[in-house]
Formats: sequence, C-alpha cells, structure tokens
Amino acid sequence: QRTPIIAGNWKMHKTTDEAREFAHVVRSLSPDGKVDTVICAPFTSLNVLVQELQEYPVAVGAQNMHWEESGAYTGEISPGMLTNLGVQYVIIGHSERREYFAETDETVNKKTKAAFAHTLIPIVCVGENLEQRESGKTKEWVREQVLRAVEGLSSEQAKQLIIAYEPIWAIGTGKSSSAEDAQDVISFIRGTVEDAFDAQVAAQVRIQYGGSVKPDNIATYMEQPDIDGALVGGASLTPESFLQLLEGA
Ligand code: 13P
Repeated sequence: QRTPIIAGNWKMHKTTDEAREFAHVVRSLSPDGKVDTVICAPFTSLNVLVQELQEYPVAVGAQNMHWEESGAYTGEISPGMLTNLGVQYVIIGHSERREYFAETDETVNKKTKAAFAHTLIPIVCVGENLEQRESGKTKEWVREQVLRAVEGLSSEQAKQLIIAYEPIWAIGTGKSSSAEDAQDVISFIRGTVEDAFDAQVAAQVRIQYGGSVKPDNIATYMEQPDIDGALVGGASLTPESFLQLLEGA
C-alpha cells in the first residue's frame, strides 16, 4: 500500500546549465510512473528543474533549508522560499550535513517540523558510522536519531514522513549494506515509529535505503518488505543511470 519513492541526491554537483541538460534528457525518455520520483538538487538548480519538469512525473527537492521563515541568517534558505519555487521535498539531516556542518538531532527536529508547516515533505536521514556498526550500536543509535527527529510531529504529519536509512560507511564507498542487513535495520526503524506514534503511522511511513545504490543492486533492496525505495547519490547523476534506477525499482 506504500508507494515506493526513489530520490536522487545530487549533493554539490551540476551547474544550472547541466541541470537543464539533465532534465531535457530525462524528459525525452519516459519513466512509467509506478514509483514516486524526486531529484534533490543544489539550490541554484531548483528553479530550472521545476520549470523543465513541469507536467512530468519527477518532483524536485532541496538538500537542506533553515527552519525559520525569514530573518538575519546570512547564506540560508527558508522553507517558504522553496515552496514558492514549486519544490515539494527537502532532505533533512543528511550525514554529510551532520558531519561537516554541525547539524544536530535538535536542528533536524526543527527543520522537520518547519518542513511540514510549509507542506514540504521531509526526507529525514539517519544512519550509523563504521565504529558504531562494528561495536553493535547501530540500532540504539538509529532509534535515538529517529525519536529525536519526530518529536512533536502529529500522527498525520508522521504518516507523510520519509525516512532514509543511510549507513555512513556505505555512502559513496561502493560498499553497500546487504539488502538483508538494510531490511533488518529498516524494520527496526518502523518499529521505532510505531513506539513513537502507533501501528497505523508505522504502516504508512516510507523508509528508504541509501548508500551505494546502483541500477544493478536496487532491485534487491526493493524486494525487501520494509524498504520503500532508495536515496541515491552517485548513480543519480546521469540521466541514463537515473532512469535505469527507476526501471530497476
Ligand atoms: P551514494 O549513492 O553516492 O553512495 O550516496 C548516498 C547518499 O548519501 C544519498 O544521500
């Protein structure tokens, strides 16, 4: 009953011209629309993607935002600025932002609430590092991240939430988590959502896997009962590979 969702995270890649070119190619081929599809691009490419992908079944997302509506926050972008462009999704708390830009569970929670307040769908990222994985702390860590992120959300909001489970050691390394291991953690995350809300919310929340997802391994994740799609970095950067991901999903 949950529609799978495949999201590309371009990270800090592509100029506006390159984004336009990508959209032209994607538009000329035709995904069949059986999964929800999103491209999360740098701020500078959001406008051109929204324009170029109008009336096309690919939504546009940002990779970050501030939680305030406006104010003296030099260099920041507000939720309303994104919705005004036609952006529908926003990645919150990616591990790269937590690691390099000092994002915390608290800012992740503020941003998640702000996203819903502005009718943006947040894709909240959680995941353990290698040390935590090797010392058996994965579930404890991820549970805390999820509980902190969803604090104060209503059940109606939580049902629309997207969580991306991205083990840090699997990001950009080519060392993806096995589909079985990812399923194990993701079903545990679904249980955590049930503890925070109820079984109905847990049954509706969509949980993606991310970390070295490629066209040739995406199907193994999609077959798992609790995995509802993927958040994809490197393999989302060319139109060919992006469309292969959608076909494989
Ligand atoms: P890769 O797909 O390049 O491993 O990146 C994963 C990721 O961080 C998506 O947000």
